[in-house]
Amino acid sequence: MIAGILLILGMALPWVYVVEPLVSLNANLRGFEDVGLLVAIAGAVIIALASGRTPLRARIAGPLIVVLAAGCEVFALYRIVDTHWAITLVTSKTFSTGVIENIHLSPLVAKASLSLASGLYVIAVASVMAIVGGVLIALDGIFPAPAPSRTSSVVSTRVAAGVSVFARRELPQHDEAPRVLLEVRNVKTYYPIYGGILRRRVGSVYAVDDVSLTINRGEKFGLVGESGCGKTTLGRTILRLEKATAGSITMDGHDLLAMRGPALKRMRRRMQLIFQDPYGSLNPRMPVSDIIGEGLLAQADSANGWGRRPVRDERVGDYLDAVGLRRDYSRRYAHEFSGGQRQRIGIARALSLDPEFVVCDEPVSALDVSIQSQILNLLSELRDQFNLTYLFIAHNLSVVQYFCDRIGVMYLGKLVEVASTDALYDHPRHPYSVALLSAIPVPDPRVRKKRLILKGDVPSPANPPSGCRFHTRCWLREKLGNPDVCSTVDPPLTDVGGGQMSACHFAEQVSDQAAEEAAARQSVIDTASADA
Ligand SMILES: Nc1ncnc2c1ncn2[C@@H]1O[C@H](COP(=O)(O)OP(=O)(O)OP(=O)(O)O)[C@@H](O)[C@H]1O
Ligand code: SF4
Ligand SMILES: [Mg+2]
Repeated sequence: MIAGILLILGMALPWVYVVEPLVSLNANLRGFEDVGLLVAIAGAVIIALASGRTPLRARIAGPLIVVLAAGCEVFALYRIVDTHWAITLVTSKTFSTGVIENIHLSPLVAKASLSLASGLYVIAVASVMAIVGGVLIALDGIFPAPAPSRTSSVVSTRVAAGVSVFARRELPQHDEAPRVLLEVRNVKTYYPIYGGILRRRVGSVYAVDDVSLTINRGEKFGLVGESGCGKTTLGRTILRLEKATAGSITMDGHDLLAMRGPALKRMRRRMQLIFQDPYGSLNPRMPVSDIIGEGLLAQADSANGWGRRPVRDERVGDYLDAVGLRRDYSRRYAHEFSGGQRQRIGIARALSLDPEFVVCDEPVSALDVSIQSQILNLLSELRDQFNLTYLFIAHNLSVVQYFCDRIGVMYLGKLVEVASTDALYDHPRHPYSVALLSAIPVPDPRVRKKRLILKGDVPSPANPPSGCRFHTRCWLREKLGNPDVCSTVDPPLTDVGGGQMSACHFAEQVSDQAAEEAAARQSVIDTASADA
């Protein structure tokens, strides 16, 4: 409101000076054009600052028109002053200093008329522009307007104690909604490797190579595997943060990879990411209200009203409540929080957009063990509260076992096993899964455990082994006498019974007994205490 008044006042005041030479107003009014100009600039600056927080229309159109109007007004002032000077000359035939003499009157009269006419014209245009700018900005919420009714599926209401509660998201009935939320088919994500003087492409990092999986609505799907096997890349590819080289990804039947422009922007709201690093993922220069509000601002429209600061702040407060932080923390900066609190802010940021699908990329691995369980429990509660579906990336198998319903095991860009948590931990059907599980420490010092140690390092994803990618390190292949098929034919991910999928030519031979025998042949013995 103040900005609008300033703007209109600023545009109006110079009119005093237009009229003044014509009707010979009091000379004391001279100088008002400067005040008018300053007021107009102040109005423009205030509007520019305020409109920086509004949707695109006001952010660009409002300030642009204001700046143009101010520019026109400067020009108009020049013309008006010039006119005033010319008319003064016409009427007095001399300067007050008396320096100039022998002035020709007729050109001066012509100049005065011209200057006045152009000054009037420009200032009229400036005024119209100012009014249009003011109206545009007003439309987008600089001026107070009634907040829209909350149409969001997450409704916040204040209870007597001043604490926000959230209503459960209304989900479509099962017969209406497909059970599968996300379907990933033969997805490949290759990163180019450039070399030579001309920096030409000389190879690729096969970060994700032909991965297919489905995630059901409401599921907590875990993704495990050694460092560098492509977990993060797969998560980011699903979220359209990395470009897929090939394959298809559908969410609720919508082809994510084909989406562009507004459709993709709308879809982004439905899929969010919780980052691994609670320290690096929060901008240290922003207060929490802006960290969480940034996404809301990007997704603001006239229906949700997130372009308006009060609406945004209210929502930020609601989600701080939801993740167990105080509402007034919104004014603090990231360095004023502990690691666990920061991760809660990251979770609030992801959930504030009301997503359905959330990729949690190792959300607890950077946290103290005592905090890890708190965050996991919080994620579980939020899943129930908001009916979320998680892709939970981790390398801590105990965490995944505790948290997830179903698990996918990745090795060197490929999914090698997919199974329910119970099936995987009870009867793994891929030699790599067996080796991973045998690395879980047993929290009992009396239990001596022999661990399967995989030979060598993970091969380079830029030059993966032929056939089964695991064949260079596979204990089962060694036990079976190194059959050729392992190094020549890439085993597909196939159902080995009860919905458990394994990518191994000899999946039926993977057993506890085979693993124990392989472990017994190894020279290294790991105990629970050594693991710890
Ligand atoms: N932007 C990129 N450009 C080139 N290569 C990349 C890029 N991002 C990832 N990679 C490579 O892709 C492979 C998979 O990386 P990714 O980050 O997905 O692994 P990860 O399984 O998440 O590992 P971690 O458990 O350590 O987080 C790695 O070899 C990595 O070096
Ligand atoms: S296909 Fe061969 S190398 Fe690959 S996991 Fe199975 S046994 Fe091991
Ligand atoms: Mg990662």
